[in-house]
Amino acid sequence: MQRTYIKELKNKVGEEVSISCWVDIRRDHGKLIFVDLRDMSGKVQAVALPNHKEAVAVASTIRPEWVVEVTGKVNPRPEKLVNKNEENGAIELEIISINVLNEALTPPLDPRGDGREIDEEVRLKYRYLDLRRPRMQKNIRNRHKVLKFVRDFLDKEGFIEIETPNLTKSTPEGSRDYIVPSRLEQGKFYALPQSPQQYKQLLMAAGMEKYFQVARCFRDEDTRGDRQPEFTQLDMEMSFPTQEEIIQLNEKMMIELVKTIYPEKEIQQIPFPRLTYKEAMEKYNSDKPDLRKDKNNPNLLAFCWVVDFPMFEKTDDGKWTFTHNPFSAAQPQHIEDLMEKKNIENILAAQYDIALNGCEIGGGSIRNHKPEALKKVFQIMGYEDERIENNFGHMLKAFEMGTPPHGGIAWGIDRLIMFLENEPNIREVIAFAKTGEGKDLMMDSPSEVSTEQLKELGIKIDKPEKKK
Ligand code: AMO
Repeated sequence: MQRTYIKELKNKVGEEVSISCWVDIRRDHGKLIFVDLRDMSGKVQAVALPNHKEAVAVASTIRPEWVVEVTGKVNPRPEKLVNKNEENGAIELEIISINVLNEALTPPLDPRGDGREIDEEVRLKYRYLDLRRPRMQKNIRNRHKVLKFVRDFLDKEGFIEIETPNLTKSTPEGSRDYIVPSRLEQGKFYALPQSPQQYKQLLMAAGMEKYFQVARCFRDEDTRGDRQPEFTQLDMEMSFPTQEEIIQLNEKMMIELVKTIYPEKEIQQIPFPRLTYKEAMEKYNSDKPDLRKDKNNPNLLAFCWVVDFPMFEKTDDGKWTFTHNPFSAAQPQHIEDLMEKKNIENILAAQYDIALNGCEIGGGSIRNHKPEALKKVFQIMGYEDERIENNFGHMLKAFEMGTPPHGGIAWGIDRLIMFLENEPNIREVIAFAKTGEGKDLMMDSPSEVSTEQLKELGIKIDKPEKKK
């Protein structure tokens, strides 16, 4: 018989059906056995009655998390047993037969509750069980809806999705790179991208004009609640835009997204308020201020743009460095200062961040598309010509070959969904998250590799001496 999904059962009262599902819980009432069954679409109560002896025999052996195929008849529940709080609370499946598709050990964690009381290391180690809980199913399914929404939205706006490489070269986003050794060129390394920044700009050089990507980014930095070593950005870049156009487009996308997928949420202020970096620091002592009027309301979303960032800041050893990434343009009134390398502390970048409830969820800029201006940025940061050529020669070269003015933004998708799902950290909205120490406990990674693999790569491990 063809499979019926559990959510469709309420429309099939009186019919015989077959469902494929997991055993959620079994309650033995002597002659009657009740089993809650669940699939990706919902849950239903089934009952094995004494008139189906074989079904009762099998039903008495099945345990939580077993996988079964159940044939049965959809019956209405007697009036007084109807549960209005459950989607299938008005029906019950009378079991005719059970085919066990796979058994399950007693699960090391209970996947039925919301799981917050369970040690997170256990949840991450048995993530495939943890993801079965309704809360995690909802988070991951809604994450899909958000990504589908932005893809459709940007497609309608004329953007195309383009993939860029993960085996690449270091792009400075202010963090440490993860590096991958090359076998064919021993002693050389790829870097995993901290973001697709250079590629998206090079796609503008390539005449793509409107690009987006759901991009995996890798940053070797200390992990915390809103940071993972690998995370997802929604990147976009466009040619010939003004800062205003980029802000307007992204604001429209976010408002429509919230209204469509999270209608229960309230956006505190539309249009999103805008603060200069200076105002934000003076008033809130933060460049990602939390503007919520009521911090107890979990459905309140307080977005705000922060603009007019300084282009450079001093490092601990007194040198100049970029505040975000080196590719932002100076604001028009400061271009002269940049070209003359003067008043450096006052140069403002054409850069904008977006904060939500006190967290930075996105940022971008109009880029520096003139080769001589980009070179000045690197010079201010004290880079020698050789280093500029080695690291950024390809960008400078592209900018000498008819690269249009361009700009873009990247959203932190994990952070955005964390807020939309009212979760306390981004691990709850990432299918296979890593621990605070950057470990994947399920795969047991990072892990050692074989001597042969190291030999092929020309790598010798200098093991720290074990403490005595
Ligand atoms: P930025 O470095 O600000 O900009 O990153 C964009 C957004 O990505 C999110 N984010 C993170 N999320 C989870 N874990 C992390 N470790 C992490 N690091 C950053 C944040 C942040 O706002 N290339 C530029 C974008 C551009 O200019 O277009 C960039 O990467 O929400």
